[in-house]
Amino acid sequence: MKIYITRQIPETGIKKLKDKGYEVVISPKDKVLTKKELIAAIKGKNYDAVLCLLTDKIDDEVLAAAGPQVKIFANYAVGTDNLDLKAAQKRGIIVSNTPGVLTETVAEFTISLIFAITKRIVEADEFNRRGKFAGWAPMLFLGSDLKEKTLGIIGLGRIGGEVARRMHDGFGMNIIYFDAKQNEELEKIYHVKYADLETLLKTSDIVSIHVPLLPATKHLIGSKQLAMMKKSAYLINTSRGPIVDEVALVEALRNKVICGAAIDVYENEPALTPGLAKLDNTVLTPHIASASFETRSKMAEMAAENIIAVLENKTPPNLVKI
Ligand code: DGY
Repeated sequence: MKIYITRQIPETGIKKLKDKGYEVVISPKDKVLTKKELIAAIKGKNYDAVLCLLTDKIDDEVLAAAGPQVKIFANYAVGTDNLDLKAAQKRGIIVSNTPGVLTETVAEFTISLIFAITKRIVEADEFNRRGKFAGWAPMLFLGSDLKEKTLGIIGLGRIGGEVARRMHDGFGMNIIYFDAKQNEELEKIYHVKYADLETLLKTSDIVSIHVPLLPATKHLIGSKQLAMMKKSAYLINTSRGPIVDEVALVEALRNKVICGAAIDVYENEPALTPGLAKLDNTVLTPHIASASFETRSKMAEMAAENIIAVLENKTPPNLVKI
């Protein structure tokens, strides 16, 4: 069996595949492959499986290039918006992802962003490094407290739920959530209350996004929604960039429609919308919410386990249902 991996991933996953006796070919380029490069790398090579990343755009042309031998595209991510799932289904190619394993890591990271933006940690660090600290001052870098403030979670899935639980139990925040469906069971578990999107936006001090990117969630937050938020509120996004209209966000931050934003994902990743990086009231991280040694290794193992299952004619543990 031959497996193609589109970029170096942690060794734990590669080892699992090699231990099965599979031939593993890893792209020698430590960069995102262009579509042309990816097609050239897999075409006519008869790979049985491809382990791909969220940065690889897997459309029908790429699936076709993999040839009839390929049985699975194992995505090294929980999100699958980079893959054309319908095209994969038509070709009888299985798609898997890595859910669950990154829940706590992404929740911890989201919470780090909440603290970074409300306590102005990045701004203050930069100020200090530039030698501007001239002594303690009563009005220096005033931020916002979290206790008894309202956190609005958009998308009460695994990650949204963990953020909610920790911010309620650990930091005394009131939590409301919006989701496509109200879930009374989860409300009891996480101590959260349901609100429609408009109410959530109008009443939250912090809004944190945790929905997948789907046609229905693209630009879920645009200028209209940003205008509904409190002037003192913050927006946090660790899900997918296109859920927020980034041009509208830059405008809202520039005009102080909202107080600040801490974001890890971008509409046209890796490019940032012009103006965004110039704004002080932002914390901008480069899509690293799941980037812990532990989680990235576990993601590699999961992707490998999905491939092994399919090549042994079993249902992969993380089959993406279409
Ligand atoms: C995912 O798994 O979808 C994450 O965005 C990776 O960090």
